[in-house]
Amino acid sequence: MDDRSSTIVPAAGVASIASPINLVLLSLFLVLVYMRLRPAKPIAATLLTAPPPTVFRVFTPPQLLPYDGNKGMPVYLAVRGNVFDVSPGRNFYGPGGPYEIFAGRDASRGLACGSFDREMLTENVEGPLDKLEDLGGDEMEALRGWEERFNEKYLVVGKLVPVGHAEVEADEVKA
Ligand code: HEM
Repeated sequence: MDDRSSTIVPAAGVASIASPINLVLLSLFLVLVYMRLRPAKPIAATLLTAPPPTVFRVFTPPQLLPYDGNKGMPVYLAVRGNVFDVSPGRNFYGPGGPYEIFAGRDASRGLACGSFDREMLTENVEGPLDKLEDLGGDEMEALRGWEERFNEKYLVVGKLVPVGHAEVEADEVKA
């Protein structure tokens, strides 16, 4: 048996690994890795365009009132205890918009009943939250539909609790 093969094979192997086609593939691979890892934008530009941080807080109905889009304020509304920042939908909820009545308010009843009458809003903002207990299945279904849409479209920035709720004090102590 010829034992030269054991010395020739490794040399041939090295030659084939370093072949021109492999060198081209290796350079392509390195270019791809570089393109994947390099930052898309300069870091300063990324910082400038990043959205402002969202602070989750507890609101009582009176504390929510100023968030109606007037005086440069963002537009918030509450749906079943969740406070949504609907500022991107300012055309709907901001001053002069078709649904401005909901700005800064608990919009649950109006959305459930498909009505923007004044009586849809909780009259006494210092009192208990609207528990919606008198609403029927269709109305609650409609409300869930709106909630789903809001959850997809807007950020939850806090929760709504009645005046005097224990969490209000806890939140104020934190702040
Ligand atoms: C006269 C009847 C109504 C018309 C013609 C109307 C029209 C519209 C239109 C065109 C949109 C925009 C849809 C989109 O681009 O996504 C919209 C959205 C909306 N409508 Fe109405 N609407 C009517 C009644 C109501 C009523 C009775 C309510 C409930 C109180 C209501 C609540 C809303 C809400 C919450 C949105 C979603 C806005 C958002 O995406 O943030 N609409 N409506």
